[in-house]
Amino acid sequence: MPHVKYRSPSIAPAYTGRLSTDPIPSLRLPDEAMEPAAAYRFIHDELMLDGSSRLNLATFVTTWMDPEAEKLMAETFDKNMIDKDEYPQTAELEARCVAMLGRLWNAPSRDDEAAASPPATTGATTAVGCSTTGSSEAAMLAGLALKRRWEARRRAAGEPTDRPNIVMGANVQVCWEKFARYWDVEPRLVPMEGERFHLDAPTAVERCDERTIGVVGILGSTFDGSYEPIADIAAALDDLQQRTGLDVPLHVDAASGGFVAPFLDEELVWDFRLPRVASINASGHKYGLVYPGVGWALWRDPAMLPEELVFHVSYLGGDMPTFALNFSRPGAQVVAQYFQFLRLGIDGYRRVQQGSRDTAIRLADGLEATGAFRPLTRGDELPVFAVTLADDVDAFSVYDVSATLRERGWLVPAYPFVEAREDLHVLRIVVRNGFSDDLADLLLADVRRALARLARQPAPVRGAEHADFSHGAHRQAGTRRGD
Ligand SMILES: Cc1ncc(COP(=O)(O)O)c(C=O)c1O
Repeated sequence: MPHVKYRSPSIAPAYTGRLSTDPIPSLRLPDEAMEPAAAYRFIHDELMLDGSSRLNLATFVTTWMDPEAEKLMAETFDKNMIDKDEYPQTAELEARCVAMLGRLWNAPSRDDEAAASPPATTGATTAVGCSTTGSSEAAMLAGLALKRRWEARRRAAGEPTDRPNIVMGANVQVCWEKFARYWDVEPRLVPMEGERFHLDAPTAVERCDERTIGVVGILGSTFDGSYEPIADIAAALDDLQQRTGLDVPLHVDAASGGFVAPFLDEELVWDFRLPRVASINASGHKYGLVYPGVGWALWRDPAMLPEELVFHVSYLGGDMPTFALNFSRPGAQVVAQYFQFLRLGIDGYRRVQQGSRDTAIRLADGLEATGAFRPLTRGDELPVFAVTLADDVDAFSVYDVSATLRERGWLVPAYPFVEAREDLHVLRIVVRNGFSDDLADLLLADVRRALARLARQPAPVRGAEHADFSHGAHRQAGTRRGD
């Protein structure tokens, strides 16, 4: 009996009793219930084996927010975004975020209309849009709108609507290939060439024809953080229309850049200031500075979003148009996005992103200064850069460097570069809010230590079979090769 007594949950310290001795099934439901504290400990402890998200330099996704944002999110975990009628204020916050983004991305002003409305709407734009779970869902929605508009134009002209295509660089994130595959659109991927690591205007326009539903330009590329030349692509499409009559819209995948360029690169014209830009997506959970998952899709004006794609739900006794793939979706992330907009404002976002950019540039320079690396980009567009090994390094591979850094907890992905330049093997580093100069110095010190050790190897140990799953790079390593 003493045995039973010592295992009584009321007196057992944390790691006695069921928690330490009874097997818990992991692939079928347990027969019995357990105390929530015990369930918590089991799962919490298992998750310690995950890497630390703050040391994860592979992800673009936000890994630090103010405690007040976390509190607000915890208070709104139970809100379903789709229940617009029941949670009208959450719906209102979503609408305000869309309005703010419309302005941030310079959609045409609606001030004429606003003059007759309450002051809060002054400065409103013609943009319409919605929140999503991330840029992938936003890409599906924007791609669908392009497809439907193309079909409508073709039908009106008495032309067939089969075999649509979409033009983009081979560096697109995998979500665009998914879009093409799921919705039967031919992906026309422009391969990389030489030191051109993303789409450019001539190569994009070259692939457009009367079946092109749109061109996707990326601000900035998942592979190396570089901005594609959106204004040049738009101008080349304007020229195409003048020469041939082909009117091909441009969608900007600003998953990361949509929250960087407006604050740090004001002179860069990439958004709705270009009449050719029909729609833009961005990830609230990347440089929008919100925990996963929230994204945004905006269209220049309602004409760019075919009415047949919009569903209507009741809202404050009225009508609220919605456009989404899922029905239920957490509201907390949208609330958190609104929190960040209020908390940071333009100046706050600018300072956060400038801090990340400065750190990224410092890191890229620091890696180059070791003599072991050649930066392909320098972190001066997105705070993201890729480095390959210097030509004279033959004792180790980027995969060896990545594995050695992992021993200290740093997660720095290594992978073969963009299609057609897979001869380059790179390390990519994403600097985000919360990755301070202090951490960057610690990383650099660990890199130097790792290099000193690796230089003594007779030959590289790890090859591309150790490539990481890394936000788009897996497309080359997986799906595409398997095609
Ligand atoms: C350019 C680009 N587009 C789309 C995506 C997909 O975004 P999400 O993870 O928000 O679905 C990413 C993710 O890294 C990206 O970098």
